[in-house]
Amino acid sequence: MAGAGVYSHALVRGIPESLAAGALRREGSGEGSDVNTASAREEHRLYVQALRDRSLVVTELPADEAYPDCVFVEDTAVVCGGTALIARPGAPSRRGEVTAIKKVLSDLGLNIVEMTDETAALDGGDILFTGKEFFVGLSARTNQRGAEILADVFKDYAVSKVSVSGALHLKSFCTMAGPELIAIGSSDQAQKTLMNMQEMSEHRYEKLTLPDDEAANCVYLNIPNKGHVLLHRTAEEFPDSAKEFGKLKDYLLIPVRNTELAKVDGGLTCCSILFNKTV
Ligand code: GLY
Repeated sequence: MAGAGVYSHALVRGIPESLAAGALRREGSGEGSDVNTASAREEHRLYVQALRDRSLVVTELPADEAYPDCVFVEDTAVVCGGTALIARPGAPSRRGEVTAIKKVLSDLGLNIVEMTDETAALDGGDILFTGKEFFVGLSARTNQRGAEILADVFKDYAVSKVSVSGALHLKSFCTMAGPELIAIGSSDQAQKTLMNMQEMSEHRYEKLTLPDDEAANCVYLNIPNKGHVLLHRTAEEFPDSAKEFGKLKDYLLIPVRNTELAKVDGGLTCCSILFNKTV
């Protein structure tokens, strides 16, 4: 079953020492502050533990010092219905990250499809799967050709393209927060993007507007017999957005700090590939 938040497995990867000095940053990100690697690792450990505590089978790859951004595994593959599309990350420095990811996803029994077209670019952070359809953010990292290949691989679903500007990825400000609920930031850019998505879609979604765009990157899990679970940024980081999460009824809300990786444009979804493995 492929639905929003329906996952049995998670793939994560450690944080290399090289992240602090070498990870990519958008201009102005992190306000010039250095990443504290020890704190980043502790925050990441708690994130991974939160996934394990929800009964997900977690595979943890070791960090690779050659790839400062390798903790952001979401960008390296899109998994749906037993198929893993191995991405071609838009940043050349990140392309080699996919080799280890491909191997582990193959070892886990997924059907592997590689994006070999050298004109294609696609980061998983630009791919929003709602359970009913895909939205692909066309950003500095993902292009038309990448979106076409994704549409070709996941033919059972409608795939709509939407422009992303002012943020690294589509999911930097827009993620699923429930089966038919989209979490969206309140910036003009975020709201406009969601309006465009709604115009292209046959489906109707509820929206959860968060005062902070960054807080709209949350991880929704719909685990059998465990109900709705949402990993979201903490009240210390985003007090106004945390109040909005607090209004969700019948959710297990799990605040997760992400102060360090946020300095290099990493959100909560960036740190895992979540998928449902039925066989
Ligand atoms: N630092 C995350 C990325 O730029 O891909």
